[in-house]
Amino acid sequence: DSDRINIAIDGPAGAGKSTVARLVAGQLGYVYIDTGAMYRAVTYSAQRLAIAANEQEQLGKLMKDIRIRLEPGESGQSVFVDDEEVTDKIRSLDVTRQVSHFAASGIVREVLGRMQRELAERKGVVMDGRDIGSHVLPNAELKIFLTASVRERASRRHRELSGVDVVPLEQLEAEIAERDRLDASREIAPLIQASDAIELDSSGMTIDEVVATIVRLSRTKLAEAK
Ligand code: CDP
Ligand code: CDP
Repeated sequence: DSDRINIAIDGPAGAGKSTVARLVAGQLGYVYIDTGAMYRAVTYSAQRLAIAANEQEQLGKLMKDIRIRLEPGESGQSVFVDDEEVTDKIRSLDVTRQVSHFAASGIVREVLGRMQRELAERKGVVMDGRDIGSHVLPNAELKIFLTASVRERASRRHRELSGVDVVPLEQLEAEIAERDRLDASREIAPLIQASDAIELDSSGMTIDEVVATIVRLSRTKLAEAK
C-alpha cells in the first residue's frame, strides 16, 4: 500500500517527540503510537507487583500475560493495562525514575517490540520512542531523530510540571541526563540515531515549525513511494 508510510521519531527525553508525533499523525490522518507509554505501563505494573528490574524470571511472567491498550483520546492517548486506566499513573515520578531500568530488560523489549511491529503492519503510523528507526521499524519510510540541548529539554519539562510536582530545574536536568545515559548505553536496542534518520535539532524551534518540517518530509516520501 503506497498510500501510507510509517514514520519513526526517536530521540532523548523531552525532545518533543510525543507532542510532535501526535500532531503529525493528526495532520496526516495517521495513528500515533507512544512506545514510551508502553515501557511506562510495564514499569507501573511491575512496581505494583513489587517486581524489581533485575528479576528477569518474574518480569518474564508479567510480560507473558500483560495486555496493554493504547486508545486515542482528546489530549493525547489513553493507556490501559489489563483494563485498568493508567494514563496519569504512568507519568508519576516513581515510574519516570525507574522506567529506563525496566526498559533495559531483554524480555520486556522483546514483547513490547513485537506488539509495536504488529501495530505498524498496516502502515500509516507515527511511532515515537528510542529504538523505532534503528530496531523496531528498520524499514520505516521516514525516520526522524529529534534532539535538543539537555538544558532546553529540562526547562520544557519544568514548565510542563510546574504546579504539579515541584522539582528544581537542576534536578530535572540531572535526571534527564541520567535517563539518556542509561538509554544510550544499554546492551539491547539502545538509543541511537539510525544511519538513514534525519536529525532535527528542535532547540530554537516552535512545536509548529517542527511539525511542519516533518509533515513536509513525509509528503516528499509519500510522493517517492508512489
Ligand atoms: O516522554 P519521555 O521522553 O520522558 O519518555 P518516554 O518516551 O515516555 O520513555 C520513557 C522511557 O522508556 C525512556 O527513558 C526509555 O528508557 C524507555 N523507552 C525505550 O527504551 N524504548 C522506546 N522505544 C521508548 C521508550
Ligand atoms: O516525548 P518527549 O519526551 O520527547 O517530549 P514531549 O513530552 O513531547 O515534550 C516535552 C515538552 O516540550 C512539552 O511540554 C512540549 O510542549 C515542549 N516542547 C516545546 O516547548 N517545543 C518544542 N519544539 C517541542 C516540545
